Formats: sequence, C-alpha cells, structure tokens
Amino acid sequence: MTTPTHFDTAARDWDQRPTSVQLAAVAPRLLAQLPLSPADQVLDFGAGTGLLATQIAPRVAQVTALDTSAAMLDVLQSKGHANITPLCGDIFAGLPGQYHAIVSCMALHHVADTGALMQAFADALHSGGRIALVDLYAEDGSFHGDNAAKGVQHFGFEPKALQALAEQAGLRDIAFTEILRLHQRNGRDYPLFLMTGRKP
Ligand SMILES: C[S@@+](CC[C@H](N)C(=O)[O-])C[C@H]1O[C@@H](n2cnc3c(N)ncnc32)[C@H](O)[C@@H]1O
Repeated sequence: MTTPTHFDTAARDWDQRPTSVQLAAVAPRLLAQLPLSPADQVLDFGAGTGLLATQIAPRVAQVTALDTSAAMLDVLQSKGHANITPLCGDIFAGLPGQYHAIVSCMALHHVADTGALMQAFADALHSGGRIALVDLYAEDGSFHGDNAAKGVQHFGFEPKALQALAEQAGLRDIAFTEILRLHQRNGRDYPLFLMTGRKP
C-alpha cells in the first residue's frame, strides 16, 4: 500500500478550507480571459476536487481532470459532472489526448521541473490551443509554512523566468495578470498570477 499524500488526507475537507473558499473567485476571472468553445477538450492539471473543472465543464465538450491524488478526484467525482473525466496519474506518465486549453490552479509549485512541465503542456495542446495557469508570485516560503510536508517544490514563480520556460517549450503570447490576493492565517496576503499563452 502506498503512503497517503498530503492531498489524500486533506481531500475530504478541501472545499471547506479558507483558502479554497477564497480560490472560488479564480474560475470566473480565469474564464473571462480564456476563449472557449462548446466543442473544446480541456485539461485541468492538478484538478483536485474540481475548483476549476466544475466551472469550466458547462462551457465545453469535456474536461479531463488530471491529479495524482485519487482521494481528491473521488471528491470531484462525487459532484456528478457527466463531462468531467477524472484521470489519476502524473502528467509525466503521458496524456491520453490533445487539448484546446490547459488550465491549472495552485498546482505548478508542486512540480520540481517547471521547464519539463511547460513542455508537457505545449506537447499536449492542439495548434492554437491556450494555457491559463494560476499560481503564486514568488514568495518567501511562508505561504504554506510546512513546505516539505505539503510537497512544495517552488516558493512561487518570477513571471520572467516562467515566461522564458514557456517560450522555450514553444508557447507564445505569454502574459501575466494578478488574479487574486489570498489572505493566509499568518495575517499576510499573497498575490496569485494568471499566466496566459498560446501554442502557434
Ligand atoms: C494545491 S492542490 C490544488 C487543487 C485544485 N486545483 C485547487 O485549486 O483546489 C495541487 C494538486 O496538484 C496535484 N498534483 C501535484 N503534482 C502533480 C502531478 N505531477 N501530476 C498531477 N497532479 C499533481 C495534487 O495531488 C493536488 O491535488
């Protein structure tokens, strides 16, 4: 039997966390900047309990909700969205399809090799496909506090560095906007970016 991850044990109460309640504002703001069509196939990377996937699903043909935590995906599945397909696995194990858009919220900082992640995104997009990725701007490690226990690989990101990795992967028109400020129990506010871009 494998050892449960932080996300496996947190899954049941994930949606009630103060952070998740604040993150509910992300989906409508992201959707306002991501052109989608009813025939689109979308990948939500690190979908968790479906904070983004459940809001995107009504606008597209199908959302593939990729996550390494089966417990997080169980919570998502219990929400009963017919056009969300849970996919339990690591992105580097390969993806079953090609997508018109790849979205993600607060999952990039859990992947050590960000360049390889950008390449995996670029490879999985149709020509003309878009990314819309939300994560922390560079912080001092105080956001999660217990970084090792939570599998944190990066204390947020510098937009210029992330843009360079995305461009090396072949993505273009990379842009950043602040999408939300998250208030944490330590009394501090942490800005999140929305990174958008396109595969030519
Ligand atoms: C902080 S949670 C965010 C979940 C959800 N997007 C949200 O905003 O509530 C990060 C998620 O990414 C998943 N994850 C981390 N590394 C992953 C990888 N390499 N492949 C797929 N999922 C991964 C974790 O299991 C976890 O559910």
